[in-house]
Amino acid sequence: MTTPLVAVENLATHFPIRRGLLRRQVGAVRAVDGVSFTIDKGRTLGLVGESGCGKTTVGRSVLRLVEPTGGAVRFAGQDVRATHGAALRALRRRMQVVFQDPYGSLNPRMTVRSILEEGLVIHRLGDPGTRLERMARALEQTGLARAALDRYPHEFSGGQRQRIAIARALVLEPEFLVLDEPISALDVSIQAQVVNLLVELREQFGLTYLFISHDLSVVEHVSDDVAVMYLGRIVERAAAERLCRQPLHPYTHALFSAVPAIDPARRRRRIVLPGDVPSPARPPAGCRFHPRCPLAEATCMTVDPPATTVAGQLVHCHVAARELAATGDAAAASATIARRLAEAVPAAGEATGARAAIHS
Ligand SMILES: Nc1ncnc2c1ncn2[C@@H]1O[C@H](COP(=O)(O)OP(=O)(O)O)[C@@H](O)[C@H]1O
Ligand code: SF4
Ligand SMILES: [Mg+2]
Repeated sequence: MTTPLVAVENLATHFPIRRGLLRRQVGAVRAVDGVSFTIDKGRTLGLVGESGCGKTTVGRSVLRLVEPTGGAVRFAGQDVRATHGAALRALRRRMQVVFQDPYGSLNPRMTVRSILEEGLVIHRLGDPGTRLERMARALEQTGLARAALDRYPHEFSGGQRQRIAIARALVLEPEFLVLDEPISALDVSIQAQVVNLLVELREQFGLTYLFISHDLSVVEHVSDDVAVMYLGRIVERAAAERLCRQPLHPYTHALFSAVPAIDPARRRRRIVLPGDVPSPARPPAGCRFHPRCPLAEATCMTVDPPATTVAGQLVHCHVAARELAATGDAAAASATIARRLAEAVPAAGEATGARAAIHS
């Protein structure tokens, strides 16, 4: 077996909550609380889940832009958490990030030339002559002209700014990109162009992506594998096509039911979950999803569901595990869970009372 390019094991990142004059720690936000995955070279893992479930913190922890509290992160077999100084800098060149907001992530007082050059200088790559060529090439690869070098970010549209942010990453010739909601802040009309650019660049340079989004339809489109996050944990993970065809976790079912499907065969009844996502400072006991799960049983309130894996599809759910054990078949188990959810949850529009607390 080849070593995956990125391997994350039991990653935890907790942010301390401090109070009072002495700033004593009174608790912790368990933003990421035991996340594991691997990404092979050239592949894309999509990470999806509602806002606040810990996606950005996973991405930042893998790059060590925030310091994880526990677990292991390996890049090309190297222990990222044990790497410091020049070795960490060398590793950072190979792992780049593109953020959601191309307005906030580009310094408005710097020209595109200075923005792109900064990384080359930090990583001591090339001399002034070769740097210019590298920067022009990176711009060209993202569909921008060399003339962009002497302009400022505000002179560009949102889509073009995101191209500059991508060029800033590409100029360092990275192997791995964390794409944190790279199209969420863009006009719907240009989102597809930027997604297509990212897909082309991946093919051209054999790049590996962690693609983060709250939008399951985008994630499904660009990813080989998809991991679904809820409250600091991955609740289900599978090949994208498989996850879409036969989701097991009730939360995954709910996410898919909110995706508008053009194909009538894929149209699903909308599952509206009651209540809000609980605070990651006080995650519920047992299955973290139990306060909102239409299928929750007594066990779910006390026992954290372990992973069950069938043909590469991994799920943390007591009911799914039981259905899989009974049928031995993920497609049948998925259909049963979908039917039970439809029975348990009133259709959108019919919702009344407590169930009317609508969530997308
Ligand atoms: N630097 C921080 N300090 C304290 N809490 C944080 C910090 N960054 C994120 N959080 C909290 O961690 C949780 C997960 O946040 P985040 O990773 O941004 O989620 P997502 O990207 O899925 O929206 C949220 O409750 C958020 O408020
Ligand atoms: S373990 Fe129970 S509460 Fe959690 S998702 Fe499965 S059925 Fe719902
Ligand atoms: Mg985020």
